[in-house]
Amino acid sequence: MPPYALTPRNIQIRDNFDAIAPKYDLTNRVISFGIDLHWRRVAIRQLRDVKPDGAVLDLACGTCDMALEVLRQQPAARLVGADLSRAMLGLARKKLAAGAAPVTLVNAPAEALPFRDASFDAVTIAFGIRNVPDFLAGLKEMLRVLRRGGRACILEFSTPPSRLWWKVYNYYFFKILPRIGGLITGREAAYRYLTDSVALFPDAGEFKAAMEEAGFAGVSCLTMNGGIVCVHTGVRP
Ligand SMILES: C[S@@+](CC[C@H](N)C(=O)[O-])C[C@H]1O[C@@H](n2cnc3c(N)ncnc32)[C@H](O)[C@@H]1O
Repeated sequence: MPPYALTPRNIQIRDNFDAIAPKYDLTNRVISFGIDLHWRRVAIRQLRDVKPDGAVLDLACGTCDMALEVLRQQPAARLVGADLSRAMLGLARKKLAAGAAPVTLVNAPAEALPFRDASFDAVTIAFGIRNVPDFLAGLKEMLRVLRRGGRACILEFSTPPSRLWWKVYNYYFFKILPRIGGLITGREAAYRYLTDSVALFPDAGEFKAAMEEAGFAGVSCLTMNGGIVCVHTGVRP
């Protein structure tokens, strides 16, 4: 595959994460009231049919909260984490060293993964796919690196179907969350980008169609907290 040239959007998003990286974990805990840990736990439970010592790629791994949850639930799994932001990977490296967690980290874009076809039993990505501007290319790469029967598990924000809940959630998400993010990190604009990227992301039905277009089979979606977040899963046929 020819080397992938980062687009201006990729660079802007990467720089955003580089800037908020030092306070990323703390901000996540505060703005989600700690529920983000539960969301990742439920997402990884969807991988229970993956063999215990399977090879798992955590894409857009950030500070590795998702990869660490995989190891909590499947201690024999062989983990690789990939991310575009070197600052996020730097923090991940420190966390992994502190817990002596065996995760190989790679600085790579989701749009062009430096792995051979069919090299993983599962691919996970938490709150990452909406940051991949060409997310269909990202889904196709996930499919390519999965073995036949391998499972993708995609945790992402979504649009709650209840109009009332949607209004409450939107108020918090757009009016309050960026301010809290700004107070903690000093980078309110970066948190405005994060909330805007959720607004632009397809709803569960549209995302299911995108996964099928990328080639996934058995696509399904588990919603949590009234549809604020979804775990999308699909299998490489
Ligand atoms: C919201 S964070 C999620 C991090 C982590 N998965 C978690 O659950 O906390 C999104 C991550 O996606 C990464 N990212 C953004 N665009 C990417 C791309 N095109 N390829 C790979 N990683 C990307 C960012 O650097 C950031 O670490």
